[in-house]
Amino acid sequence: MHQDIKEVLISEEQIKEKVRELGQRLSEEYKDLNPLCICVLKGAVPFMADLIREMPIKMEMDFMAVSSYGNSTTSSGVVRILKDLDASIEGRHVLIVEDIIDSGLTLSYLVEMLKGRNAASVKIVTLLDKPDRRKVDLSPDYCGFTIPDAFVIGYGLDFAEKYRNLPYIGVLKEEVYQ
Ligand code: XMP
Ligand code: MG
Repeated sequence: MHQDIKEVLISEEQIKEKVRELGQRLSEEYKDLNPLCICVLKGAVPFMADLIREMPIKMEMDFMAVSSYGNSTTSSGVVRILKDLDASIEGRHVLIVEDIIDSGLTLSYLVEMLKGRNAASVKIVTLLDKPDRRKVDLSPDYCGFTIPDAFVIGYGLDFAEKYRNLPYIGVLKEEVYQ
């Protein structure tokens, strides 16, 4: 285990099993829909990469970058688009792939924006959900794990851009924040 980690919340094996399960479900649901999977950078990169390899169906992918957090651990509520999609999503079945839903502010903004571009459908798959911290009425269509209100890192999730490479979801030691 990495020296800055206090506790492993979700192990590499647990993640693998869950991603396989989600991939199978999504493959069933989307098999004839040629979905457009949208990865929200950067946190959702490992999840997206693993998930699509559990979805052997006709599909496409695209990437979007938004900012709402900076280097802090609380939401500013401001969503800025840093990188938009490459192509039109009109008439497409869009699946937003996220690492974590916290306040829900980021995704509720994204969902409304994408619906406004006349997608045929817009759904959300998130690896993690922290429902205790929700500030808007939003729930994922597909979710890997519901977790308690703790700041977590690993498997794409960062603290000040670090720890995204860890293969598990963990909680940082307090002294790392100070
Ligand atoms: P909201 O609050 O808009 O935020 O739902 C979603 C985004 O906030 C980041 N986030 C976290 N990042 N550990 C992280 O590394 C966490 O515990 C955490 N909680 C929220 C993340 O970028 C997510 O996409
Ligand atoms: Mg994110």
